[in-house]
Amino acid sequence: MDRRAAFFSYHAGVMGTALLMLVPSVVLGGGPAFSCGPPQQAQYAFCNRALPAEQRAADLVAKLTLEEKVSQLGDQAPGVPRFGVPGYNWWSEGLHGVSMWGHGMHFNGAVRGVTTFPQVLLTTASFDDSIWYRIGQAIGTEARAMFNLGQADGLTIWSPNVNIYRDPRWGRGQETPGEDPATASKYAVAFVRGLQGTSTTTLQTSACCKHATAYDLDDWNRIGRYNFNAKVTAQDLEETFNPPFKSCVVEGKATCVMCAYTSVNGIPACADSGLLTKTIKGEWGMNGYISSDCDAVALLYGTRYSGTPEDAVAAAIKAGLDMNCGNFSQVHGMAALQQRKMSEQDVDKALRNLFAIRMRLGHFDGDPLQSPLYGRLGAQDVCSPAHKDLALEAAQNGIVLLKNDAATLPLSRPTAASASFAVIGPNANEPGALLGNYFGPPCETTTPLQALQKFYSKNVRFVPGCDSAACNVADTYQASGLAATSDYTILFMGLSQKQEQEGLDRTSLLLPGKQESLITAVAAAAKRPIILVLLTGGPVDITFAKFNPKIGAILWAGYPGQAGGLAIAKVLFGEHNPSGRLPVTWYPEEYTKVPMDDMRMRADPATGYPGRSYRFYKGNAVYKFGYGLSYSKFSRQLVRNSSSNNRAPNTELLAAAAVDCGASRYYLVEEIGGEVCERLKFPAVVEVENHGPMDGKQSVLLFLRWPTATEGRPASQLVGFRSQDLRAGEKASVSFDISPCEHFSRTTVDGTKVIDRGSHFLMVDEDEMEISFDS
Ligand SMILES: *[C@@H]1O[C@H](CO)[C@@H](O)[C@H](O)[C@H]1NC(C)=O
Ligand SMILES: *[C@@H]1O[C@H](CO)[C@@H](O)[C@H](O)[C@H]1NC(C)=O
Repeated sequence: MDRRAAFFSYHAGVMGTALLMLVPSVVLGGGPAFSCGPPQQAQYAFCNRALPAEQRAADLVAKLTLEEKVSQLGDQAPGVPRFGVPGYNWWSEGLHGVSMWGHGMHFNGAVRGVTTFPQVLLTTASFDDSIWYRIGQAIGTEARAMFNLGQADGLTIWSPNVNIYRDPRWGRGQETPGEDPATASKYAVAFVRGLQGTSTTTLQTSACCKHATAYDLDDWNRIGRYNFNAKVTAQDLEETFNPPFKSCVVEGKATCVMCAYTSVNGIPACADSGLLTKTIKGEWGMNGYISSDCDAVALLYGTRYSGTPEDAVAAAIKAGLDMNCGNFSQVHGMAALQQRKMSEQDVDKALRNLFAIRMRLGHFDGDPLQSPLYGRLGAQDVCSPAHKDLALEAAQNGIVLLKNDAATLPLSRPTAASASFAVIGPNANEPGALLGNYFGPPCETTTPLQALQKFYSKNVRFVPGCDSAACNVADTYQASGLAATSDYTILFMGLSQKQEQEGLDRTSLLLPGKQESLITAVAAAAKRPIILVLLTGGPVDITFAKFNPKIGAILWAGYPGQAGGLAIAKVLFGEHNPSGRLPVTWYPEEYTKVPMDDMRMRADPATGYPGRSYRFYKGNAVYKFGYGLSYSKFSRQLVRNSSSNNRAPNTELLAAAAVDCGASRYYLVEEIGGEVCERLKFPAVVEVENHGPMDGKQSVLLFLRWPTATEGRPASQLVGFRSQDLRAGEKASVSFDISPCEHFSRTTVDGTKVIDRGSHFLMVDEDEMEISFDS
């Protein structure tokens, strides 16, 4: 997110994480450890647990002086000693594990490490929302445990990042659930539910979906996220950029949304009442607070908003912003009130939302260790065996097998015992390549080299081959020599945070520096076709490797987290059958000719604009969205339903509900209405068979396509996905709940959802089934 985080991550890269952990966070100034202990409990209505959180928050806010109120408008909120209220740090992160970005979490007590799950894009590749949910749950549990141990002075976690990964160059694409809005929406719901917990009374932690909206450019051609005005059509906003946020709030019940630095169609997101108040709080009914990205309000004044600092503070609050990350509103809030740019009621409204969240987190329920729900969580719940296993499971299930000529993989473990291995590459033994960004100190890490040496072979020799992932200097001679004298050669190449990170978008999709020439030379020198393992966040153009017969197998392993090295080794040796599928299109290098600031999703053939994502880009792809191989041969087939005669079941309901589109070629979803939409649902069944030779998992991706992709219809659209374990030779039926209003609808130019009359096709791989939607 924010400027300070970008600064930290830069220094983390340069100086190492140990130093990063020493960056002091602002001390919130003594005071009580918790609110509403015995002296206050009976005294104040805001301490009365029997009352609704909103009412308790209103009681507290009404008691505060104007100065006290203004002091609460920033992410580092001081205490209110006269009411026994301690200070609060709003800013914590938990993207793929409790993180050291932000001010809220401290790693200087009983907890010095936390479970570090894979970077989100790799986790997404499992297409398994039970994994996504359990990761959220584990992070929430570890954050709670740290809170109980006095190592967290906040439980508001500013994750997940559910921006659509629109352009492959984006440095933060690694943090997201990929390019598909349906996938990102499901990820958002699963992760948020996990983080926030299942209790209806007390939140485990508060999750925050960021960054609303249409933010996915950090730095391109002198356009940066601090000054970018994204020109977005109503159609793209409704259909591509907003759905993950909507799902987050409506289904996931996220208690926070963060607005982006970006301006959308000329209006800064954090001063856009249409977005914050009308859409997020109004239409979507968010019960929670809206935070700014860090210093976004200061930037309103600095770069986006004519007027004074007070105007900027007032514009944001009046638009619906509750929390400014940074101190700009605390510094300028009082003057804004005195100058009547905003009213005390505007401030009260924001503070009631903020304090209600703290109430819902149980921070006004007395001693947190007495909490019947979470009070017992402690050091034993951080880096627990179950969480470590989950980190391994997530990495294994995400890894994507991109190429496997002549069954190069899996390697045989008995053979390995007597064989010699060359391990080559800057990412083979680099713990940082496991973590990506927004990480915390991992409980343990196993690099790929360590895993191979420790568990698989006594005869592993290693050379890095490059000075770093940048690979400005390569030692091809040494690397080729090692490959020529080893039975098997495995290369660990890819990217690092020096090529892609917050504040840093790529300018090329090729592997950096001399990586390609090193790989090619090593492949030519090796005894057998080599194995190439890519550790990257975003996609890379590896066309050269795809077509080089001396490169036998290619794996994409993302930034795989603390257990990543072991997960890769288990896949290499067939102890895990890979089932990950790419959550983004892997574009060729020529895609970098596309202006990154062109937000349009649809292609424009007249100007040569190729469009974006599998839904609209029809050009060559190095690998397509959803691509991924297995060691087994799987078949997937839609089960035909003769009784339904290929008409969408229950379409006669439309007539019964007097929904008539007359001469029009489509129905308006709004006119069909929620109740009829509900009754239009029908199941689609896919039969999956594992033809062997190995047990394994299969993620079934079900798509919809229209008879033609004219009038801006997507080429196809993901309807749903399910992941299924199957033993070799086993068959299973996987059922999808199809909701025509959701899955058969498309969005028109003005952002209206419609269902075309006539044919639609459900698709699984090459198999298609026609379903006609007509009455
Ligand atoms: C506000 O924060 C900035 C850094 O973002 C810092 O330089 C400044 O001293 C702070 N001001 C106050 C009054 O705390
Ligand atoms: C077949 O269609 C009928 C009628 O719409 C429906 O009730 C039934 O569930 C469908 N069966 C399958 C396997 O899809």
